[in-house]
Amino acid sequence: MTETGRHVGILGTGSYLPEKVLTNADLERMVDTTDEWITTRTGIKERRIAADDETASDMGAAAARNALANASIGPDSIDMIIVATITPDNYFPSTACLLQHKLGISDVPSFDLSAACSGFIYGVSVAKQFIRSGHAEHVLVVASEKLSAITDWSDRSTCILFGDGAGAAVLGPVDNGGILGEHLGSDGSGGDLLYCRATASRVNGPHGVSPVAVNTLQMQGNVLFKHAVRLMTDAALTVIKPLGIKTDDIKLIIPHQANIRILNAVGKKLGIDAETQLYLNLEKRGNMSAASTAIALAEAVEEGRVEKGDIILLDAFGGGLTWGAMVIQW
Ligand code: ACO
Repeated sequence: MTETGRHVGILGTGSYLPEKVLTNADLERMVDTTDEWITTRTGIKERRIAADDETASDMGAAAARNALANASIGPDSIDMIIVATITPDNYFPSTACLLQHKLGISDVPSFDLSAACSGFIYGVSVAKQFIRSGHAEHVLVVASEKLSAITDWSDRSTCILFGDGAGAAVLGPVDNGGILGEHLGSDGSGGDLLYCRATASRVNGPHGVSPVAVNTLQMQGNVLFKHAVRLMTDAALTVIKPLGIKTDDIKLIIPHQANIRILNAVGKKLGIDAETQLYLNLEKRGNMSAASTAIALAEAVEEGRVEKGDIILLDAFGGGLTWGAMVIQW
């Protein structure tokens, strides 16, 4: 099949958050920290935690159902499923296959994509290529994370950051606008700055089968902080410049919700008005890796912050190292 060159856009978004809320006050009772330290250093006040038996595919399926309803597309019309996650239910089969079954979809390619916090943007980019080339009509991209399963709950430098949840988007052809451009990148030389040696979230976690240092996320936070500011700024400029888009033209930047200080630094370097142009939900959600950008997008749409014709910028950075930025005309 030849390249169609058609426009590809997001037809609907959805999200899912587990019920349990873990506040900074709760964390004060678990590790040597304070609400004041967490709030000023990260901007996070609370995060959601999945139930013990709730998996990435469960949360992803719930977000996907919302996205399908929002796009007015039935599961039968989906012809590819991509799940971005670093906390898959199992080592294999893929979380995407489990999610496919939960949605009652069959016979379509389904696969997981591992790009840590940049996973949703990577997934949307892959989906775009299939639709643009005519190899798929509607692709479901889900980003779902159960980071609580790979968190060392005795490590105060990481356990205060992360939360669980899922976001989803249905992509398809659009008459005009849609995804105007994207930039993806990686640098494996930074792989040791953020990693988890074992990842099957069903058996993982501090109570899992391997030692905590093996089955939990390990991070050099202050080194990553500097990379995050540089790479998110560079990714944003790399994608907007060739499109002739100025930061003033961007209605809303929807970034990976890593840390308020990282996002304010990126906003300052880009010269945007953080008050009006930066979408933040980390205060109530924390950092949910790949799910962060997907949920932030779904919530921004739901809140009416993104309207037809608006130009938005997704921007993320994460373990790998990976990064990605994408401009979408809604
Ligand atoms: N409460 C109180 N004190 C703490 C806590 C805590 N929860 N955590 C660390 N500290 C202490 C440290 O022990 C240290 O004390 P010391 O000076 O006596 O040694 C001091 O606070 C400063 O520690 P830093 O690590 O330098 O603190 P920093 O200001 O860098 O903040 C943080 C830490 C929040 C982790 C920050 O570095 C950060 O957000 N980094 C980026 C994380 C990130 O973006 N990761 C990539 C994306 S996630 C993904 O891909 C899954």
